[in-house]
Amino acid sequence: MARVLVIGSGIAGLVAATRIHEEAAHTHEVVLATKGDLGLSNTRYAQGGIAAVMFAQDDVEAHIADTLVAGAGLCDPEAVRVLCAEGPARIRDLVAAGVEFDRDTTGEFARGLEAAHSFPRVLHAGGDATGARIEEALTARARASAVAIHEHTFLTDLLLSDGRVVGARLLDGEAGVLEVRADAVVLATGGAGRLYPYTSNPAVATGDGLAAAARAGAALADLEFYQFHPTTLALPGNFLVSEAVRGEGAVLRDADGERFMLAVHPGAELAPRDVVARAVADRMAATGAPVYLDATAFGADVLARRFPSIDAAVHGAGLDWAREPVPITPAAHYWMGGVVTDLWGRSSLPGLYAVGEVARTGVHGANRLASNSLLEGAVFAHRAVRALVDPDAAGPWPTRPPSGASEPAGEPRPRGGTAPFSRAAVQDVMWDAVGLRRDGAGLARAIRTLDGWAADAPAPHSPAEHEDANLLLLARLTARAALARPASVGAHFRTDSGAAPALTRAGAASVEVAVGAC
Ligand code: SIN
Repeated sequence: MARVLVIGSGIAGLVAATRIHEEAAHTHEVVLATKGDLGLSNTRYAQGGIAAVMFAQDDVEAHIADTLVAGAGLCDPEAVRVLCAEGPARIRDLVAAGVEFDRDTTGEFARGLEAAHSFPRVLHAGGDATGARIEEALTARARASAVAIHEHTFLTDLLLSDGRVVGARLLDGEAGVLEVRADAVVLATGGAGRLYPYTSNPAVATGDGLAAAARAGAALADLEFYQFHPTTLALPGNFLVSEAVRGEGAVLRDADGERFMLAVHPGAELAPRDVVARAVADRMAATGAPVYLDATAFGADVLARRFPSIDAAVHGAGLDWAREPVPITPAAHYWMGGVVTDLWGRSSLPGLYAVGEVARTGVHGANRLASNSLLEGAVFAHRAVRALVDPDAAGPWPTRPPSGASEPAGEPRPRGGTAPFSRAAVQDVMWDAVGLRRDGAGLARAIRTLDGWAADAPAPHSPAEHEDANLLLLARLTARAALARPASVGAHFRTDSGAAPALTRAGAASVEVAVGAC
């Protein structure tokens, strides 16, 4: 019996674990480890929905075109084709697994529109609780299966033997350190919004899988592309206010009531996400005042029915968005970069698969199209399982030169004037120097500061210490990737250079950073 260790329990991890079990229970046993409760993940908080071609008037070519345009010339077109072509089948799988997407009065799926989609193809569930509904259905399925589930189990490192991943070292609250051997490891550990002080991501999003893959020497790419969502509530916790709210017609106003996006981009509030996020930040900086989302045209009943989770959060904060605009701010939302994989979820390290936000499949390029991430998780987890149970279908494991597995080389530690290391200090450096706007001098300073902290950092023991160490490593790699790309493109905006000329994948090598090569 082969053993597969799946780490993480968002949509990608749960689809992978349940699918292996359903397809190959007679040949593969599945162990699923997750650091919090089962289903506590970024997926759980996804509101707007999941994009796929589910309507006769839409077509796969249009979804592909929208995804490529959003990605600013840096998507892998083959991966995008796979995503959009296989998306509808994966939506049908989710329906079969019990996800009840919202329907209109005719019984058809309700159609949501989000930025940069040429067709309203975003399906949603529970109004604005799409991710929560998906997690409920998939966790129920996982619990009903023979998948061995280990909650509150923290990944510290991958185990390597002769360049192959052969398992993982885990920290279990009760058993302590565990070494779990496996024939294959599927990383589905999600993103790392906690690199930044303002994020829509839950506290678990600390990039532990990505950091472990980096230490093991897996190839990583596109780390400089971090997507900031333009509209989270400008209150502690940064509750996400879905783009679907703007898709339904809500507008952005500055403190004087001006609808400033009209002068910024022809798409106004539905311009690409990076454009809206920067415009909001710029207006806040220029006026020294908040920017507001105005949804007052909808009325209280519509807001409560269509956006129940946001409605509850807004009211919980003592605001009434049916009567007055609410203050919003950009916040870190989604990481386009990650562990480089092929079309079958296979990383550069034999035995290691990566699916979901931790992976860099190439479908997002420099800027993810809204609501493509849940789809990516489902499509590529499904493909990874096919490759796992039938390796011949996927062909030989992709070979790449090993990337090295030491820590990034650091400059001498800066003396004086630097705050002591803490997670908050790393987050502040990332927000200021590796956030919505970057420049070479700021990035170089950030790298010196981060390297100085790394040089002095004690070895981590507890999960929280491991998280801090992982965030520090990922911050160092991200700052290096941002420094290595001098031109602005998509979510990576350099104030010290002009925008890149229109890019094509062929003419724009992706920035790969490996811990040993910095
Ligand atoms: C949102 O609901 O605005 C988020 C959707 C996404 O990030 O894909």
